Amino acid sequence: MIKYHWVIGMKIGIISVSDRCYRGECEDQSGPAIAGCVRELSDTTEYRLVPDEQALIKQALLELADEARCDVIFTTGGTGFAPRDVTPEATKAVLERETPGVSEAIRMKSLEITNRAMLSRAVSGIRGKTLIINLPGSPKAVRESLGVVLPVLPHAVETLGGNTLSCGGNYGK
Ligand code: MTE
Repeated sequence: MIKYHWVIGMKIGIISVSDRCYRGECEDQSGPAIAGCVRELSDTTEYRLVPDEQALIKQALLELADEARCDVIFTTGGTGFAPRDVTPEATKAVLERETPGVSEAIRMKSLEITNRAMLSRAVSGIRGKTLIINLPGSPKAVRESLGVVLPVLPHAVETLGGNTLSCGGNYGK
């Protein structure tokens, strides 16, 4: 269980990217895993399940960022090397500013758990006031990655909204 110093009611979007789940051949476990992890931080969650199609991933991202106005969107799946893994490309197409540190931190901490973390091409960045973060596709990878990023998410959303007052504070790790 991850503990936070304080909790804010963020609106969080979750996009599961999987051909097999989309076709109904298996149940999406990673989207619900994200929802479980962000429960303490979030008042509202929006959920979409899309196949590994760049246009449909992009459309879901635009809906959740521009129309639903999510503070943060997590995608899960489609970040690897398989020919149909195109989530990073769809994400980069909608980003206005990249946030490489977020994805680097996730990969760096994940490498302490598995060497296979280097096989994720996940990216992250900002569109308007929405932070978009790609996560790998398994529930295990989702939980490990969120363990890295969730503790800094409240401050990330705060600064995204223009409040940089607490940046210089003594915030520990
Ligand atoms: N990151 C963490 N933290 N834990 C994992 O188990 N799996 C890796 C990697 N990142 C993994 C991880 C594996 S095996 C792959 S192939 C890539 O994520 C890409 O996964 P994806 O195509 O499902 O997005």
